Amino acid sequence: MPQYSLHINGAIHQVDVDADTPVLWVLRDHLQLVGTKYGCGIGQCGACTIHLNGNAIRSCSLPVSAVANEGMKLTTIEGLSKDGTHPVQKAWLEVDVAQCGYCQAGQIMSAAALLERNPNPSEDDIRNAMTGNLCRCGTYTRINKAVAMAAKDL
Ligand code: FES
Ligand code: FES
Repeated sequence: MPQYSLHINGAIHQVDVDADTPVLWVLRDHLQLVGTKYGCGIGQCGACTIHLNGNAIRSCSLPVSAVANEGMKLTTIEGLSKDGTHPVQKAWLEVDVAQCGYCQAGQIMSAAALLERNPNPSEDDIRNAMTGNLCRCGTYTRINKAVAMAAKDL
């Protein structure tokens, strides 16, 4: 199997996997970064959202071979902040967003990517950016409130 060097959360990781292995499974099965969740596996639910060079992407639909070069920097929920003090994480706690929690890492990663490119989002901006992240518990109202709160804290 080919060896790949991946830049994840500020460190280089070597993995020995097939070229078409989804990044999600590299994170979870090979690197034990299990904060990123599997939901649908087909890019439809957002549970597996991570950042690629600051942009939110679906790690279930991205082959490892596509991110194995130096310019590709991946960030997972484990790397968003050292101690859970990213403004989005603080707002999530303040608003008490999570219910079962399953979708929440993906939600937080999408919200953080939005605020990175748009620190002052409107309600529509927030709704549009978060629309691809599904929550079976229906925490959408609290998610939108927490994103707006995080924007004020930037
Ligand atoms: S698991 Fe990747 S989008 Fe659903
Ligand atoms: S909090 Fe349960 S799926 Fe979103």
